[in-house]
Amino acid sequence: MGIPLVMADRNDMWGGRFAAGPDAIMEATNASIGFDRRLAPQDIAGSKAHAAMLAAQDILSDSDAAAIREGLDTILSEIEGGGFEFRIDLEDIHMNVEARLKALIGEPAGRLHTARSRNDQVATDFRLWVRDQIDVAVEGLAALQRALLDQAEAGADWVMPGFTHLQTAQPVTWGHHMMAYVEMFGRDAGRFRDARARMNESPLGAAALAGTSFPIDREATAQALGFDRPCANSLDAVSDRDFALEFLSAASICAMHLSRLAEELVIWASAQFRFVTLSDRFSTGSSIMPQKKNPDAAELIRAKIGRILGATVALFTVMKGLPLAYSKDMQEDKEQVFDAADALALSLAAMTGMVADMAANRDALRAAAGSGFSTATDLADWLVREAGLPFREAHHVTGALVAKAEVKGCDLADLTLDEMQAAHPGITEGVRDVLGVDNSVASRTSYGGTAPVRVREQVARWRAALV
Ligand code: ARG
Repeated sequence: MGIPLVMADRNDMWGGRFAAGPDAIMEATNASIGFDRRLAPQDIAGSKAHAAMLAAQDILSDSDAAAIREGLDTILSEIEGGGFEFRIDLEDIHMNVEARLKALIGEPAGRLHTARSRNDQVATDFRLWVRDQIDVAVEGLAALQRALLDQAEAGADWVMPGFTHLQTAQPVTWGHHMMAYVEMFGRDAGRFRDARARMNESPLGAAALAGTSFPIDREATAQALGFDRPCANSLDAVSDRDFALEFLSAASICAMHLSRLAEELVIWASAQFRFVTLSDRFSTGSSIMPQKKNPDAAELIRAKIGRILGATVALFTVMKGLPLAYSKDMQEDKEQVFDAADALALSLAAMTGMVADMAANRDALRAAAGSGFSTATDLADWLVREAGLPFREAHHVTGALVAKAEVKGCDLADLTLDEMQAAHPGITEGVRDVLGVDNSVASRTSYGGTAPVRVREQVARWRAALV
């Protein structure tokens, strides 16, 4: 929102530098309506719950409560319809709504603020907003996991190179690689759920900081707003922003996971790898190079961690050192959280679309799976199992064979039996069984291993968990 600075009297000391007088500058600094208007639905829900409770407790007449309820409903539809005039001179969403309520229903509007303060009001609104965003994130994560599960199921036995240090390590299955991300995003969803359970307490009724002398029913407002219980300490209730910090922390970890997957997609989509083809829907062309198809969506998701983690650091920095209870510093809690939540929701949706649309290039994966002596560990394991060598010695013998193949410019499987027996006489033709990538992945049946049989079990487990 643009800041409507009006010309006012300039301050003699420093006014030459400013187009506006001190009052307008103060207003621009102080107002939060430019961003906290996003809390309007939560603010109105909180006010309706508060008014109903006041009436039930005989603090407010039923007719006043009804007028307030109807007025608030009108305001909500005005806001949703875009016809509401947000005023910077009314500072924030709470006072904008209340002023409009006064214009609509007159005197009863002034009774709504009995036994509450903007301090518990904003804490309540913001919790409700963050709680909704947690639900959005959990749903977005489930959708992404389903897209990954589809990929994993289709390619449960497709071989590809597994990497450590981005160097070919051992063959793995495409399904196994996809399922690694299913695990990561499953933990992310768990973190969001944990945060939700902890934050789901109502600050409403804590009033400014000390509670109130009115006979309010905090259990009732908590229940009406879907909270599990009221916050037990009024000072803590108005000064706590842990819920936002936990949301941002969980969002940061999730954004980091998204960034890692995005980076793999960028690498895999390159001409050098060709592991995947990304759909046109999530790619762009170049204005100068006609052959280009750029993985822009993946690159942007890779970058979003910057603003999400930035928001996390920003809010920690705002909150550190604040004395109890409310301080205006805390108004700086919202914009960053809004931005981070938007970025996360968009990233999850874009990643879900990209994963659902991408085509794994099975042949390219297979060709790469066998390169780089990826079955060297299988050879060493064979020497342990079949020739009785201690693993360290088997490692050494295999290393010598890798060096020989490297000199010859061939794969391990292309060495002759004579060449192999020169490295160790116990080697027989039977070793060739383990030098193939399919046998290699099929043999890794330990729990959590890459064998297709294990991958399919994990797919089934997650399918059942996600319904
Ligand atoms: N706009 C304020 C905020 O976002 C609302 C609370 C104001 N409370 C006060 N005591 N000034 O934090």
